[in-house]
Amino acid sequence: PGHGAHHGAGAAGTGVKAAPAAARAAAPFSVQMPVPPVLRPTRSFPGVDVYQLALRPANAEILPGVNTPVLTYGGQFVGPTIRARTGRRVKITYANQLDRPTNVHLHGGHVPASSDGHPMDLIQPGQSQLYEYPNRQQGATLWYHDHAHHLEAEHVYRGLHGFYLIDDDAEKSLCLPSGQYDVPIMLRNALFDANGNLVSDTDPAERTTIIANGKVQPYFQVAARKYRFRLLNSATEGIFRLSLGDGTPLTQIASDGGLLPAPVSRNDLRITSGERVDVVVDFSRYPVGTQVFLNHTTGPVLRFDVVRQAPDNSRVPAQLRALPALPAATVVREVSLGTDFSGGGPIPVGVVSGKPFDPERVDIQIKRGTTEIWNVTNADGEYNFTHNFHMHLVQFRVLGRNGGPPTADDAGRKDTLIIPPGESVRVQATFSDYVGRYVYHCHFLEHSAIGMMAQMEIVP
Ligand code: C2O
Ligand code: CU
Repeated sequence: PGHGAHHGAGAAGTGVKAAPAAARAAAPFSVQMPVPPVLRPTRSFPGVDVYQLALRPANAEILPGVNTPVLTYGGQFVGPTIRARTGRRVKITYANQLDRPTNVHLHGGHVPASSDGHPMDLIQPGQSQLYEYPNRQQGATLWYHDHAHHLEAEHVYRGLHGFYLIDDDAEKSLCLPSGQYDVPIMLRNALFDANGNLVSDTDPAERTTIIANGKVQPYFQVAARKYRFRLLNSATEGIFRLSLGDGTPLTQIASDGGLLPAPVSRNDLRITSGERVDVVVDFSRYPVGTQVFLNHTTGPVLRFDVVRQAPDNSRVPAQLRALPALPAATVVREVSLGTDFSGGGPIPVGVVSGKPFDPERVDIQIKRGTTEIWNVTNADGEYNFTHNFHMHLVQFRVLGRNGGPPTADDAGRKDTLIIPPGESVRVQATFSDYVGRYVYHCHFLEHSAIGMMAQMEIVP
């Protein structure tokens, strides 16, 4: 059904030993979407799992028959998935076998500052660093990625991204689809040159090839039953607008920080860089043999092929998990994201509340335990630039947008959200448990890399 005219029919199916340009035009839906393998702990003790993960260059077959040089966690373009549990610690040693400094940020994680991957806290080439993730937070779809100062956009674009999934017992007792029926899907964009290399020095808007778990327009074989898909937009800059090709709604069950209070039927989802949306799709409504597309505005990004029957005792209960009551906020702040062209150079400067990131400067000091409201404005209305606000350490709640209520995309516990040109959002967060310096920034990483980032210091 009406998909993908942009993958020129003329070149389709030329397949074998094709020149890279031809390989790029290979028939869509000719490769299976892989599910990133789960990383095995090297050791486990009561209450803690210990992992090792090396960062190294590798070649990935993203385009059929073409080797693309990438930067990886563990040799995989979509890094291995780390499966954690609430209340059980993860200790992970990242070994930097790249030729450049790096670090690792657990996006959405509530972690001590020393394990947060502050942009200046780098692992030099040949060095290793131990990160500890307490997992004192509820089940959620998180992800890990590079956060090296100025280099984060380039590094994530080249492949330093992977899933980190937290499960908890209360969530387990809901009997949502699990095991092989719980599938993380990392969506991102890319631009390839004629040799299959990733091109980074262009406008991100030119990255029109969309990749799902490391493949371009793959198919994914499913049984005629319910699946949970954990959708992540790991594009350094990009917005996906996703819907099912047959027009049936998706059932959203979770956003960035975990379960919604109740499932929500969504005709389309807008997912900006860094955001996660968990959905359930019940393929039992389709006869075996049906193909169902997951579409973005530019065409299908993935095709689900219903290939078999399977038993299904999973459920999507009408109540999932109530959101905690919001404590009263005692501090209100104004924060803005913007771009400063006044330097006159070829590259502008990104600013937060008028200033580019300075690792020596603390922009906001917060007493631990305080609940605050931040009114975050996109100051680039005149340039028509969209920004994408992300805070480390906390999950926040969206109180409103542009003086009105939050949108459906703002629901639940959030750590990342879109702010269209000139618009503003009001968010509320409680800064508990940890002290130290954490950044907040635009999660269009090309913007944070040129300065659209600031830091808060949580003090006792
Ligand atoms: Cu996903 Cu500060 O990052
Ligand atoms: Cu931005």
